Amino acid sequence: MKFYLDTADIKVIKELNQLALVDGVTTNPSLIAKEGVDLKERILEICKEIDGPISCEVLATDHKKMVEEGLEYHSWHKNIFVKLPCTDEGLKALKILKSKDVKVNMTLVFSPMQALACAKLGADFVSPFLGRLDDTQSSGLEILEQIIQIYENYDFKTQVLAASIRSVDHVVNSALLGSDIATISPKVFKKMLKHPLTDIGLAKFLEDYKNSQK
Ligand code: G3P
Repeated sequence: MKFYLDTADIKVIKELNQLALVDGVTTNPSLIAKEGVDLKERILEICKEIDGPISCEVLATDHKKMVEEGLEYHSWHKNIFVKLPCTDEGLKALKILKSKDVKVNMTLVFSPMQALACAKLGADFVSPFLGRLDDTQSSGLEILEQIIQIYENYDFKTQVLAASIRSVDHVVNSALLGSDIATISPKVFKKMLKHPLTDIGLAKFLEDYKNSQK
C-alpha cells in the first residue's frame, strides 16, 4: 500500500520525507487555507520535494470551470492529479479531463455507487472518506471494502485511495482490505511507526551491554 501525506504543510512534508516512505501528497482547499499560502506556489514546492502524485483540488463547482482549473493545474507540473468532487458536475468534468489525458482523483466519495461511477468514467484515483463516514454512524471501512470488491469484480484500473484517516487502525485495516493507497495526516503518520516495546527493548539492550562492560 502506498503512503501519501494528507497535508499542505511543506515543513512537515520535508521532515517526514526523510524516512523515504512518502509516495505522494493530497491537499484540499481546507488544508491550503490552513497554511495561508498561495495555492500554485505551495503545490509547486510540494512537487519539488515529493516525486509522486500530488493532488490539487478545483475550487469551481460547475464542470466547465472545473475543466479550466484542472487544465491549468495540469500545466503546472507532470505529477499533478486534479482533484474533483464527486458531484454530477465533477463527473462531467472527469469525463472531459480524461479525454485530455489529465490524471484525476475523485474526492468526497461516500458510497460504492459513487465509486463505481468514477471508475466507469476512468478516474485514476477514488477517495472514500473513512473518518467522515464513521462520524455519521456508517462504517468507513465497510464502504472501503465494498468499493475494493466492486473494482475487483470488474477489473477496474482505478486505484482506491483511503482518505479521511483518523487512526493507525484505519491505516492497518485499509492495508488488510487491499486499498492501493492511504492518505495519512502527519499526526497519524508519526504515530504509526512507533511501538513502546521497540523503545523499551532498545533501552534494555543498550543497558545490558553497558553493564557487561563495567
Ligand atoms: O483530503 C481529504 C481528506 O483526507 C480529509 O480528511 O480529516 O478532513 O475528514 P478529514
